[in-house]
Amino acid sequence: MPELKNTIAMLFLEGTKLDRALLNRGHRPNILPAEPFKRYKNREKVLLKRKWQGANRDLWETLQNRRTRRNYKRGLISLEELSVMLWASQGLTAQAGPYYLRTAPSAGALYPIETYIGINMVEGVDAGLYHFDVKGFQLETLKKGNFMEDIVHIALGQGFIKNASCIFIWTAVFRRTMCKYGNRGMRYCFIDVAHICQNLLLAAETIGLGACPIAAFFDDEMNDFLEIDNKEESAIYMACIGRSAES
Ligand SMILES: Cc1cc2nc3c(=O)[nH]c(=O)nc-3n(C[C@H](O)[C@H](O)[C@H](O)COP(=O)(O)O)c2cc1C
Repeated sequence: MPELKNTIAMLFLEGTKLDRALLNRGHRPNILPAEPFKRYKNREKVLLKRKWQGANRDLWETLQNRRTRRNYKRGLISLEELSVMLWASQGLTAQAGPYYLRTAPSAGALYPIETYIGINMVEGVDAGLYHFDVKGFQLETLKKGNFMEDIVHIALGQGFIKNASCIFIWTAVFRRTMCKYGNRGMRYCFIDVAHICQNLLLAAETIGLGACPIAAFFDDEMNDFLEIDNKEESAIYMACIGRSAES
């Protein structure tokens, strides 16, 4: 194992530092922008619920009680519960000029993160892999079938995932953020996804569901599973959700 200072990770840190001289020269990277929203056309759609019951807990109680929960009672969650978690993580909340602002902040309001959902047990929704259409507030069906065992395998055999009701898989479309911020934009993609995930974890805790953030997975295998190219877009984080067996 190389000494810390010789790792690729430290090279990344060094190579993505903000440089006052470059900034003062108004340096802009030569990276073309990308479409701000990803949409899969001509797919079967699942309309999400735009109305849901009020929260069971207030923010302070949620913060006090939030824990990573990996022990799930196998069971359905409702479409309403899934909808409120999708909204909490990435929902549109306002428009400012050309920018569609969301529940979670994003560097430059560029929103590089896409959400895919592996569905295992959600009331009225077939098991399968779906993409979240943020603007249409709906799911686009990518493939049907139960893929939880595949996801467990990709996630280093973390067996608790197979009892989850669903799993959020987040990818970054790097170009959206890097066209403005260059190499530093890579950092912002990871920071953005952490905001999104935390919103999801707090929403899940508030409505009485258990959640576990997951970063341990084989990247290339996950990208293949999602059928994304691993260059323009790559999987960077996940979180599974279920009815906790602890309460
Ligand atoms: C970046 C990150 C990656 C994580 N990856 C995993 C994971 O792959 N598998 C897992 O079971 N837990 C994972 N966790 C959950 C942590 O183990 C958990 O947050 C930690 O033990 C603290 O417990 P708490 O969340 O209940 O406060 C991850 C958490 C973070 C923030």
